[in-house]
Amino acid sequence: MRIVLVVACALIDPDGRILIAQRPEGKNLAGLWEFPGGKIEPGERPEQSLIRELAEELDISVKEACLAPLTFASYAYEDFHLLMPLYVCRRWEGTPRSREGQALKWVRAGKLRDYPMPPADEPLIPHLIGLVGA
Ligand code: C5P
Repeated sequence: MRIVLVVACALIDPDGRILIAQRPEGKNLAGLWEFPGGKIEPGERPEQSLIRELAEELDISVKEACLAPLTFASYAYEDFHLLMPLYVCRRWEGTPRSREGQALKWVRAGKLRDYPMPPADEPLIPHLIGLVGA
């Protein structure tokens, strides 16, 4: 089984809300809400990938020291196995805005279940509730 490595980040604002992004039309799992991030490209370290993806997708600048590992997702999709470390970040430069047409939403951890997510992402929610409260 092919293992696909994707890095994701829960951006947490001063109110303890978490940013989620809706996968745009045309992408696999379109319409589902996810934590921002993306695939690790060859030659990249995970933190570099995440910093690159956050700049590309959200137009924010994040320092590596501001990324803290929280947990990971390990999920068997039909055609590949997803391994996805989840980082949290409370400090960044700029204001997140959609650069790739994706809808964005700041949501309390206890409300994340109201937003349909890829099955790999759902088990991450209790870890976030444990971190920031519901
Ligand atoms: O975002 P991208 O399409 O490059 O991610 C590759 C695959 O990883 C997706 O098609 C999806 O199956 C999975 N994924 C996921 N949860 C995420 C990001 C990606 O399950 N937050």
